[in-house]
Order: sequence, then C-alpha cells, then structure tokens
Amino acid sequence: MKIYRVLVLLIVVVWMSPAFADHEPMKAQCPQKRQTPKAPTEFVQQVNPLPLTARRIEKGKLIYQSQSSPLQCKHCHGLRGDGTGHLGLEALPPARNFACSETMHNISDGQMFWAIKHGIPGTAMPAYSDLADWQIWVLIHYIRQWGS
Ligand code: HEC
Repeated sequence: MKIYRVLVLLIVVVWMSPAFADHEPMKAQCPQKRQTPKAPTEFVQQVNPLPLTARRIEKGKLIYQSQSSPLQCKHCHGLRGDGTGHLGLEALPPARNFACSETMHNISDGQMFWAIKHGIPGTAMPAYSDLADWQIWVLIHYIRQWGS
C-alpha cells in the first residue's frame, strides 16, 4: 500500500515537471513593434514641463502602482515597467515595455502624454481622462526612469 502511494506520487511529480519549466520568468519583447499611431503634432512636440525631482518620481510611482483608475498601470505594464503585467503580456498587441530603451527612446514625452490621456484605439490601453495634466507628467517621469 505504501509503495503504491510512493509510485502515484512519483508519477504525479514526473507528469507535472514540464509545468514547472513553464514557470520561467516571462519576458516582453525588446525591441517591440508599436501599434500606437502617431499623436497629433502639437502633442508629439511637447517636452515634459515639470522639472525632474525625486518627489515627482515618487508621486508618479504612487499613481502608476496604486492610484490610477479604473485599472492601475502595473496590471499591464508590470510592477517594474517591463511589460510583464498579468494583463499586459496577454493583450494583443501586448503592453509597452518601458524598460526597452531601443523602443522607448523614439517615443517623445508628448506622444506618451497623448496616449495616456486619450487611450489608444484598437489596443487594450485605456484613456485616463480623469488624471490632471500634472499627474500625467509625473507618470512620464516615473516611466522614463526605467531606462527610456
Ligand atoms: C489594460 C492594459 C493597460 C493598462 C491598464 C495600461 N496600459 Fe498603457 N498600453 C497598453 C497597450 C496594449 C499599449 C499599446 C501597445 C502598442 O502600441 O503596441 C500601451 C501603451 C502605452 C504607452 C506607449 C504609447 C506609445 O506611443 O507607444 C504608454 C506611455 C502607456 N501605455 C502608459 C500607461 C500608463 C501611464 C498607464 C496607467 C495610468 C497605462 N499605460 C495603463 C496597455 C495598458
């Protein structure tokens, strides 16, 4: 009886092992193919008007991780901005990987502002029209500190 139990356990463990292999940390693509259209010119040319300070990055972090509604940015763009949020990797197209400087260095502050304020049609990226302009600019400071 005991041997039988050990055998069953062994079979289960062997059967499960490929599933363990699947638990490798998942990665978003870099460089990433962007499906976001180009923002109107008056947005694209804008540069973040708020000087970069540690307090502003802290505030941006708070909004990104817990205060943005209806859905916090982290759920798609990931806790570390690398695009590995549980909804972000599965979205089609997947959420932007802010840690990928190859893609991010081509995206202007104003382009990001437009995407956050109005959302991106045809993608999972929602509009955050309730955020005040300064909240969006501190979010952009926070996003940029991931190497973009
Ligand atoms: C439900 C998932 C989801 C949430 C929540 C979300 N995003 Fe996105 N985001 C996306 C997707 C999808 C894209 C578009 C990817 C593409 O164009 O290929 C995107 C793109 C972006 C871009 C890039 C725009 C560009 O021009 O390339 C920025 C900046 C951005 N999101 C910021 C944010 C911020 C800040 C928040 C929170 C306030 C947020 N996102 C919340 C899914 C999400």
